[in-house]
Amino acid sequence: MQLLSLLADRFEEALRGWVEHPEEHARRVAVARDPRHGDYQANIAMPLAKPLGQPPRQIAEQIVQRLQVDDICMPPEIAGPGFINLKVRDAFLAESIQRMAQDDRLLVGNQTPRRYVIDYSAPNVAKPMHVGHIRSTVIGDSLCRVLRFLGHEVVSDNHLGDWGTQFGMIIYGYKHFVDPAAFEQNPVAELSRIYRMVQSIIAFQSAQKKLPAAERRLERAARAAQEAETAAQDDPQVRKASKQAAKELRAAREEVQALQDKVQAVLSDPELARLAEAHPDLEKRVQLETVKLHQGDEENLGLWRQFMPISIREIESVYRRLGVHFDHTLGESFYHPMLPQIVQKLVDSGIAVESDGAICVFLEGFDAPMIIRKRDGAFLYATTDLATVEYRMQHFHPDAILYVVDHRQSEHFQKLFAAVRKMGYADVELQHVAFGTVLGPDGRPFKTRSGSVVGLEYLLDEAVERAYQVVCDAERLERAGLELSESQRREIAEVVGIGAIKYADLSHNRTSDYEFNIDQMVQLEGNTSTYIQYMYARTCSILRKSGETIDADWIAQTTVVLPTEVERTMALQLLQLEDALLQTAQDYMPSVLASYLYALAKQYAVFFDQCPVLTAEDAELRASRLLLCHVVGRVLRQGLDLLGINVVERM
Ligand code: ARG
Repeated sequence: MQLLSLLADRFEEALRGWVEHPEEHARRVAVARDPRHGDYQANIAMPLAKPLGQPPRQIAEQIVQRLQVDDICMPPEIAGPGFINLKVRDAFLAESIQRMAQDDRLLVGNQTPRRYVIDYSAPNVAKPMHVGHIRSTVIGDSLCRVLRFLGHEVVSDNHLGDWGTQFGMIIYGYKHFVDPAAFEQNPVAELSRIYRMVQSIIAFQSAQKKLPAAERRLERAARAAQEAETAAQDDPQVRKASKQAAKELRAAREEVQALQDKVQAVLSDPELARLAEAHPDLEKRVQLETVKLHQGDEENLGLWRQFMPISIREIESVYRRLGVHFDHTLGESFYHPMLPQIVQKLVDSGIAVESDGAICVFLEGFDAPMIIRKRDGAFLYATTDLATVEYRMQHFHPDAILYVVDHRQSEHFQKLFAAVRKMGYADVELQHVAFGTVLGPDGRPFKTRSGSVVGLEYLLDEAVERAYQVVCDAERLERAGLELSESQRREIAEVVGIGAIKYADLSHNRTSDYEFNIDQMVQLEGNTSTYIQYMYARTCSILRKSGETIDADWIAQTTVVLPTEVERTMALQLLQLEDALLQTAQDYMPSVLASYLYALAKQYAVFFDQCPVLTAEDAELRASRLLLCHVVGRVLRQGLDLLGINVVERM
């Protein structure tokens, strides 16, 4: 049930033929922030005061006269300068909850179907997978679920980074640094070790080159800061300059420190230092291996074919654990054969031009062009993405393509989208569903302990372990009167632990950074999935204890009554499920759904506290309250499922 748009439609009717663009004004109805103002509040009259040349209160009165909401609301009230407050009728709420209980889809309608391609997860194979990839995976998976539930068609596609420089790194590393016995024993760990080794040496060599200049910058900054310090500090202009100088000094110091760390990381390990010496200019050497791979060199292709399944198996075990599936996994390598054609096509159509030996697409509003073929003939990430769009348009015919990718790639996507428009794809919606960084306790980007795929699984294990400690604590279970076998406890811990990781990602507004804190995310109190899962389990437990079988007949015979404000509020919240889902889909923000579920779970806790169910005064009230518990349980379970989170019936 779309209560909000139902009301907006009524306002639109009331305004039609009287003001211009009634639909735009009608949108200014929203859930009331303060329950004293009713359930919904329309701020329509004030903005109309000017165009209509009347005092807003007078306009509000006229709107109310024209407005027909009798079947849904009590007579509207006008407040303050001209707000229109609406209170939904109890009878409407009760009757709707009844229908909701009888409906498989919880009164969520099917939208006019659109076809979406969702590009998410997309880790770089053979490179340690990081928390950012969980974030993309979890957000993307939830968007797939929500859009499908709303009746859309979704093609999920994992655009694996299986063709990039990281292969040059491990191919070079494998040829020169591999420990065959270790590779035999545990290929994933050995490849990961090799990767990190090559990475550190490259970082070391580049830091060594940059250090002298950085140190000179630091000296200059120190001098400038000193001078600013001694200048007359009572002049605000000078104070400002001195602050700026201090800031620059800090930045210069940090830069030198970071470079020194990279140098030290290698120098402190004699073996690594020896290798760094023996393999000068490693970055170039690695690049040559990548080029050879891309040109079809047999040896390198052979190694690529050998490494791919090893890494993919590892990534898939993470997906299995998270319960995530893709319709397609068309990685970068899949598009490799199409790259010369796409470049040719863009050149032929005049969209791309040669510049300094490279092939570029110049785009309005961007200083630097999008390079699609380098001077040395190599193709780029952007080239692959162009070929990918072309392929998707031809094979999937989408109405929208969503890219769930780190916000740091936003410029890449802006350029990509601009280029796609130039190619003549005018109608497809293109969205970079960007997300912020996952931070560690130090406020810096979170790093897994070993920085490897294994590290990611280790994180999941850790969350499950903490979940076990929190929810399967012996004393707690005893207090709750729950007798559970060890395997049941393990199962609960798995559901709670994995749910916690996902919910932490999903409940934060995706565009902001958030701190990854396992201890906090598994807690039973606060905005956590554990809390919502627990409230779901409570609904199950009370229904179990009631001894009733809540089936279609039982529901049909039950009359919903809402004698208390607590029940009334909860009923209204239940009916707002569809609005929450539509908002989630419109903004591509699973956090909207998460907030909705958390608010409902909290309201259920209040209800549980204040409204006796099994011991209600009479049979009618008891049945009505049981039915509410039943619907709350269903909404929580369904909602969590749309976030990709499971539930257990006892915890
Ligand atoms: N592999 C990339 C990374 O890890 C993300 C790819 C996103 N998808 C795309 N079509 N570019 O940064």
